[in-house]
Amino acid sequence: MAWLESFGRRARRWKSRIDRLFFPWFSRRIARDGFDARHGTDTATLCEARNDQGELVYRYETVHVRAMETALDSLRLDFTGFAFIDLGCGKGKPLLVADRRPFERILGVDIDRRSIAIAEQNRDRLGLTSRVELQVADATHFLFPPMPLVVYLFNPFPAPEMQIVVARLVESLQRHPRPVAVIYLNPRHADLFAATGIFEEAARTRGVIADHESSISFVNDMAARLRQP
Ligand SMILES: C[S@@+](CC[C@H](N)C(=O)[O-])C[C@H]1O[C@@H](n2cnc3c(N)ncnc32)[C@H](O)[C@@H]1O
Repeated sequence: MAWLESFGRRARRWKSRIDRLFFPWFSRRIARDGFDARHGTDTATLCEARNDQGELVYRYETVHVRAMETALDSLRLDFTGFAFIDLGCGKGKPLLVADRRPFERILGVDIDRRSIAIAEQNRDRLGLTSRVELQVADATHFLFPPMPLVVYLFNPFPAPEMQIVVARLVESLQRHPRPVAVIYLNPRHADLFAATGIFEEAARTRGVIADHESSISFVNDMAARLRQP
């Protein structure tokens, strides 16, 4: 129906105007979680994310430190022996927060070279140079290490890319069965995980400042068995 399509187009235009209007405000609120002030890092300022061809691939934004901590806690897992992997890690705040937990490996991947350069500076400032691994790469090419995983996603890409990442994760699980949990913030394509038949919903958390900091977590059966009561 033509009127419905035109209404949809107008609604999307308005939404993007409103987003642009409120984003600096949101960024300042995030900055007030004190993380950057405490550590001398730059994680809160928003920026456009571009690939090596200069094409715009989503924007960089992050969430309140408490939203990350709550999502990690909601898994009720002992992270010893697990790798924490942030696909679309931007300036690396979740990696720096994950360092407070006993993860065996902490790994971030982003397609935007400038964000990874800032993530490297942030990591080095916290003295985590040898602890946090960073890669400039397209997450759709990422090979999951064959160990227990917590995969962290903050709405990093649209459905087609997410579909590839989910398929690669399932493939990796079939080759190396192991406990895997997924934390998905602003989970626009959560149905893709549910549809695998491998992941079950483990928890939901709410945002601290904005709605889009809310998360859904998934676990496979091996991770589900490890969850503490
Ligand atoms: C919303 S930000 C999340 C940043 C970080 N995870 C956090 O929570 O602070 C999304 C990030 O995904 C990255 N991204 C988008 N498409 C990507 C892709 N195909 N491969 C890797 N990173 C990608 C963007 O460059 C951006 O930094």
